Amino acid sequence: MKNVIDSEHSQTIFSGVKPTGRPHIGNYFGAMRQFVKLQEENKNGENYFCIVDYHALNLIQNAEEMRHLSLDVAIDFLAIGIDPKKSVIFKQSDVSEHTELAWIFDTITTVPYLKRAHAYKDAMTKGGEENISVGLFNYPMLMAADILLYDTDIVPVGQDQKQHIEFARDTAEKFNRIFPTQDGSTLGGGVFKLPEAYIMKDVETVPGIDGQKMSKSYNNTISLFASDEEIEKSVLSIVTDSDGEVPQNVFAIHSLIKPEKELKKIYEENKGKYKVLKDILIEDLKNFIRPMRERRGEIAKDLDFVNKVLEEGKEKARAVASQKMEQVRRAIGVS
Ligand code: AMP
Ligand code: TRP
Repeated sequence: MKNVIDSEHSQTIFSGVKPTGRPHIGNYFGAMRQFVKLQEENKNGENYFCIVDYHALNLIQNAEEMRHLSLDVAIDFLAIGIDPKKSVIFKQSDVSEHTELAWIFDTITTVPYLKRAHAYKDAMTKGGEENISVGLFNYPMLMAADILLYDTDIVPVGQDQKQHIEFARDTAEKFNRIFPTQDGSTLGGGVFKLPEAYIMKDVETVPGIDGQKMSKSYNNTISLFASDEEIEKSVLSIVTDSDGEVPQNVFAIHSLIKPEKELKKIYEENKGKYKVLKDILIEDLKNFIRPMRERRGEIAKDLDFVNKVLEEGKEKARAVASQKMEQVRRAIGVS
């Protein structure tokens, strides 16, 4: 994999994960693995990984559950290798500038523009307008605020978030146009920097065990920290529609963890033997997941440490966000 960050130039990386349940290998290969890769490359820059609890509030409306799920994402981040010495791990709700800025963006965004969002359209086909909260409708503006508060250069995400990053760019441009800074001192005259999505081509949409996009809401996931038994159960239920005696879905998931060349040989040698191929995938997944799951188990025993990481993250993120908000307030004339 070639480097994204050139070591001479420090960059700002930002991404968010919703605390809505256990992460799956689609989240990991599609986005979270890139968090770690970028953290390692971006030695002189800033890396922010945010637990976006206010986004999750659209779905999780129970205090106990919200607390648990948010802490779980912090543990997940640490378990996959996000290092609090190199990256800021924090909760969105700990930095009130996110919601403050989202409101300001709401005032410069039109209803038809937000109606173009894929997530909104999906919700419309599923349940109709009566079931869509204003929070779900405005979701992209809160996400734009998350990203733009930190002068973000790069946002590692899966393909499903591409449109949201475009919305963030559009919103930054629109704000910069409507509210030019008086002194022209910031970022070439505008308050906000335009972010770029970082989407890895071959894993942009990881398929689930039914061949559709892997997603919590489709019940087709393989959990990133699954137990051996769960791995067996998930793999055995992969739907095996085949093309030339190669079970496509099994192969697609297998190619996440084994180089294509090795895989081709295995699948060639075991043409049509679906059970054998699934057993090989089970073993490979077990070996891949076990060390991360064990690490997660260790981290979960030390919640004081996890809470300390979140406390420190909050302070660091607040310092940056409050400065940016000062610029915003000046630009719109409320300071
Ligand atoms: P979420 O849990 O919805 O906050 O998603 C966290 C990250 O995982 C986002 O960057 C998503 O784009 C990414 N993601 C979710 N599902 C998939 C998938 N099936 N394939 C690739 N990336 C995904
Ligand atoms: N919308 C993203 C998702 O569903 C989560 C998210 C919220 C995010 N704010 C963000 C991702 C900022 C990247 C940057 O996965």
